[in-house]
Amino acid sequence: NNIPLNQKNIILIGFMGAGKTTIGQLLAEKLDRDFLDADQEIERKHGMPVTEIFKSMGEPAFRQMEKDYIVELCRESREKVVSLGGGSFMQDEIRSACLDNGIVYHLDLTWESWKERFEDLIDTRPILQSRSLEEIEELFNSRKRIYADNHRTVAVDTLTPEQIATIMVEQIR
Ligand code: S3P
Repeated sequence: NNIPLNQKNIILIGFMGAGKTTIGQLLAEKLDRDFLDADQEIERKHGMPVTEIFKSMGEPAFRQMEKDYIVELCRESREKVVSLGGGSFMQDEIRSACLDNGIVYHLDLTWESWKERFEDLIDTRPILQSRSLEEIEELFNSRKRIYADNHRTVAVDTLTPEQIATIMVEQIR
C-alpha cells in the first residue's frame, strides 16, 4: 500500500494487562498524536461497558463490534496511536487491516510477570472469569505466537510505562 510511514497509525497489541492503554497514552503525548483505545471507543459507541456486552450479548457479538470498529478505523484514520483489546488480533480481518495501515507493536510480557497482574484484571476481563489458570496460560501462549508474528516487539516486564514509551519513540523517529 502507499501510506507513508510517518502517517501510519501506531497500533499496540498484546495480552490483557500488558499496559497497552497506559503506554499508548504516553506514546501519543510524546509523539504529539491523538490516542484511541479501541475498547473505550466500542463502549462509547454501544453505550455499555465491555463486561456488559459480554454478559448481555455474548462474546461473538463483541468480536463483531470489535472487527467493525477496528477495520473502519484502519481505513479512515492516519497518524494516531491506537491500543487494541488483547483478543482482536485473533481475527484475520483485523490483523490484515492493521498491517496495511499501521505499524504494529507487540507489548510482550512473560507469563511469570503476567501472573502478578492477574488479581487486578479479573473483575473487568470476562475472558479470565470463565477459565482456570492453566487454561489462561494456554491462551497466553497461543496468543503470544500470533502477537509476535511479523510485528515489532518490546519486552515490557522490567520497564516502567514511561521507559517503554521512550524506547518506542526512539525506534519510531
Ligand atoms: C479481551 C481483552 C480486553 C477486552 C475484552 C476481551 C481479550 O482488552 O477487549 O475483555 O480477549 O483478550 P484488554 O486487552 O485491553 O484487556
